[in-house]
Amino acid sequence: MTSTSAPAEEKRGSFSSRRVFILAAIGSAVGLGNIWRFPYVAYENGGGAFVIPYLVALLTAGLPFLFLDYAVGHHYRGSAPLSFRRIARWAEPLGWWQVGITFVIAVYYAAVIAWAGRYMFFSLDQAWGGDPEAFLFGEFLQAGDPGIGFDYVSGVTIPLVLVWVVTLVVLALGVQRGIGATAVVFIPILLVAFAALVVVALTLDGAGTGLDALFTPDWAALTETSVWVAAFGQIFFSLSVGFGIMITYASYVDRKSDMTGSGLVVGFANSGFELLAGIGVFAALGFMATAAGVGVNEVATDGLGLAFIAFPTIISEAPGGALIGVLFFGSLVIAGLTSLISVIEVPISAVRDKFQLGRVAASMAVGLPAAVLSIVLLGTTTGVYVLDVVDHFINQFGILLVAVVSMVALSWIFGRTRLLQRHLNRTGSVRLGAWWRWLIGIVTPIVLTFILVREFIANIEEPYEGYPGWLLGSLGWGLCAAVILLSIPLSLLPWRRDVDLSDPEPLETREGRA
Ligand code: ALA
Repeated sequence: MTSTSAPAEEKRGSFSSRRVFILAAIGSAVGLGNIWRFPYVAYENGGGAFVIPYLVALLTAGLPFLFLDYAVGHHYRGSAPLSFRRIARWAEPLGWWQVGITFVIAVYYAAVIAWAGRYMFFSLDQAWGGDPEAFLFGEFLQAGDPGIGFDYVSGVTIPLVLVWVVTLVVLALGVQRGIGATAVVFIPILLVAFAALVVVALTLDGAGTGLDALFTPDWAALTETSVWVAAFGQIFFSLSVGFGIMITYASYVDRKSDMTGSGLVVGFANSGFELLAGIGVFAALGFMATAAGVGVNEVATDGLGLAFIAFPTIISEAPGGALIGVLFFGSLVIAGLTSLISVIEVPISAVRDKFQLGRVAASMAVGLPAAVLSIVLLGTTTGVYVLDVVDHFINQFGILLVAVVSMVALSWIFGRTRLLQRHLNRTGSVRLGAWWRWLIGIVTPIVLTFILVREFIANIEEPYEGYPGWLLGSLGWGLCAAVILLSIPLSLLPWRRDVDLSDPEPLETREGRA
């Protein structure tokens, strides 16, 4: 350790224990992706048979990449840009690219949490009436034509402001008192609330039909590449890997902590929660289908449709509907908030490291513009389209692209994976062999490149959801390109003076201790 890094590290903040770090990392991983994305992705892509590509993706790409993120943050002890800067001068833009992606995600992710918060209260008196779809797009979102409109929808704007206030207060409190303490309190609550929801859902008439639909394996699906693409995409988003979050969180962990053991706990907890969500959601959909006298295939849907149309229908019809509503939307709010906190911590941590800013000032410098953008773009009559386009593009041509580029760069350009492997093995309870470097350097980049090329061609051939070209060009392709381009000037700005840009544990020290 160099002499200047210790005080700087103390100023950055740290988690008080490995347990707090694990809870915060689970809080980040378990989010909207687990509750509303996984059940439908599994159902659509082979049902019970999906478990095979899912596990392959988890074991060959998800966990190895999670270990890589942990190693970078834990060894280089900085936010994404600082860690990459300590690897090499020309690696820094990779960190700012990740910062840009997380900033964009935070802007729209907050809106979904705000909607869920509102729906938690709507559940009490089933405010959506007899037609939840008309209510969602009409009375609630007041959705107009796809375009940038500035007609505010107060029903969305007010909860959105609240979401940002809570998030920024937590972040201003710091790593342990804010992020850590929130995870320690809310992750157990989330688990209990969601488990209760699953138990209630399983008691509904027709629950078994829903589970049959989810788990009946369609083995033929395993021969379709799209099913494998879906499995890898789900694992990356859900585990929060590749976009700077785990680098940032790992940089707050004690140097002697077992990072590989922690990674396994986080990875399997995240997948366990996904399985639980699949059971709960499909039991409820089974009830909905049985009540309507139709097949589960007619009611199963993803994302917004599942949370804000199908669930309101279930809540209106099921015995104890209000309880189901509070548990479901309450779980969405908690899972979403703990993920949003981790997402926006990536730019906050980067700004703190790069400029001479304290925790509160950095939280405001990043959080206030994000909140304003969120309210201006999402709290209006066109918010739903903005969300759909940005979410689709930034997940694929942001997260997946930066993931593949950083894996290739760390393995082949800067040649750091051997050192990082040694770093993890020094304190890790799970020892990584050469297989880890092969997965990170060859197998996963090949699979991801294949997915990206496929998705690129599909998006060129068929404009996403038939949206107008200017919308896809600006908030889709344009935004993904802008995030990349902005990373260059940001990396050229000077670092604050007291930050040490050298490797915190230079090679000789590492060799000596290994
Ligand atoms: N991992 C977070 C989620 O699943 C981003 O929503």
